[in-house]
Amino acid sequence: QNEQVDNAFWQGKRLLITAGPTFEDLDPVRFLGNRSSGKMGFALAEQAAKFGAEVTLIAGPVNLATPDKVTRIDVRSAQQMFAAVQENYQQADVFISAAAVADFRMTESSEQKIKKQDGQEGLTLNLVKNPDIVAWVAEQADKPFVVGFAAETENVIDYALSKLQRKKLDMICANQVGENLGFESDVNQLTLITSTKQKALVDSLKRQQAQQLLQFLAEQL
Ligand code: CTP
Ligand code: CA
Repeated sequence: QNEQVDNAFWQGKRLLITAGPTFEDLDPVRFLGNRSSGKMGFALAEQAAKFGAEVTLIAGPVNLATPDKVTRIDVRSAQQMFAAVQENYQQADVFISAAAVADFRMTESSEQKIKKQDGQEGLTLNLVKNPDIVAWVAEQADKPFVVGFAAETENVIDYALSKLQRKKLDMICANQVGENLGFESDVNQLTLITSTKQKALVDSLKRQQAQQLLQFLAEQL
């Protein structure tokens, strides 16, 4: 019965979702990455498409099949993800930023493989900050409803609340990351937060959480 309510609401709604990590190249053979699997963003895309939404999924480097009826755009770096989001956010009713965007990239990535010198005992990398994609979308006059994620290892709710406010998001999904929890895992501990509501999800599987998240989101819109 719930599914029918969802179906009716999401029918024809346009969703833009980012998922997975970004890789920041150091040189042609090395990169900085993170342990995001992309599973949460892909589960959201899959469920929303099942509910009849038009879903565009901007995916970092992940090892996942494209869900049925989802338009997928593959990117590698944060800058490429940012460009893809800038091109697509105006066509979206809702933007869900589930990607684990690298906070920094190389100031200059090397065109040739970095070689170590004889006797070299260390290496310092010069990094520069990447654009904050979700904060940028939330600043736009014609912005969609903006949903962020906050993966934290401690003070989960507090950190998530401060990100909700600092980035001017409409909603944030606080995610406890730990051993076998969150990154690289099928299992999540999620709390959905708006400026007026908090809802801790009981289900721990990302697929079921995706349904509950879309249900909660439908109630806010
Ligand atoms: N995010 C983004 N662009 C970035 C960094 C983060 O769009 N350059 C988005 C993520 O997709 C997520 C939210 O911001 O929806 C929070 O990401 P998180 O890494 O938890 O927050 P940061 O602001 O980067 O703070 P920190 O990593 O220091 O905790
Ligand atoms: Ca970050």
